[in-house]
Amino acid sequence: MSLLISASTNPPNLENLLEYIKKLDNTDVDYIHCDVMDGKFVKSTTFNHKIVKKIKEITSKKLDVHLMVQKPSNKIKKYIKSGADILTIHFESYKNKNKLTKDLLSIKKGGTFAGLSFNPTTEIKEILPFIYFCDMLLVMSVTPGKSGQEFIESTFDRLKEIKDYLKHQNIEVTIEVDGGVNNKNAKTLKENGVNSVVLGNYLFTSKDLKGAVNLIKNI
Ligand code: DX5
Ligand code: ZN
Repeated sequence: MSLLISASTNPPNLENLLEYIKKLDNTDVDYIHCDVMDGKFVKSTTFNHKIVKKIKEITSKKLDVHLMVQKPSNKIKKYIKSGADILTIHFESYKNKNKLTKDLLSIKKGGTFAGLSFNPTTEIKEILPFIYFCDMLLVMSVTPGKSGQEFIESTFDRLKEIKDYLKHQNIEVTIEVDGGVNNKNAKTLKENGVNSVVLGNYLFTSKDLKGAVNLIKNI
């Protein structure tokens, strides 16, 4: 099976963003990956649920919303209403881990896929107990905050740890990798059991968008 592609929303301003999303509509990407940053969880600020709603209105693709925010709990409903098909929250946003479980379950309740993401510095054994409450693991392969960073190679060891655990527990969860993915590392990611990749800079800087998408799809 081909890798699923979730195209990241990294253009510099809203006008460019909406234009880029329209272009993506004519390609074989599977999802639009909406990187929501609040300037607190990460330094940058991007956009909120209102823009996610706008994106939903102009694309036929599904929305994969990645919340890099300090306090996700009171925002979950808004993003679901705005059209998120997958809604991902960060492990590090929660001091109270019972609340994390509750929020993952509340995302799933209405039929939206629940994603759990975690930073490259978070130990895999910390996130494993929450795997049972989510549909997708969004494995960060860069420090969250901006596009165009280099892929962290130790992600492969982390993926192995996750895959071994899933196999042992006999459960299936989609694995998406986010950060620094390109035509050079996508094949190895696929060979390591990754189902889906986020593509930011690789697609955004390509001269032939359709071709760049197809290259990854044919890996
Ligand atoms: C990083 C974001 C990523 C990023 C991906 O904080 O979550 O989705 O925009 O961009 P590239 O592929 O350029 O690393
Ligand atoms: Zn992301």
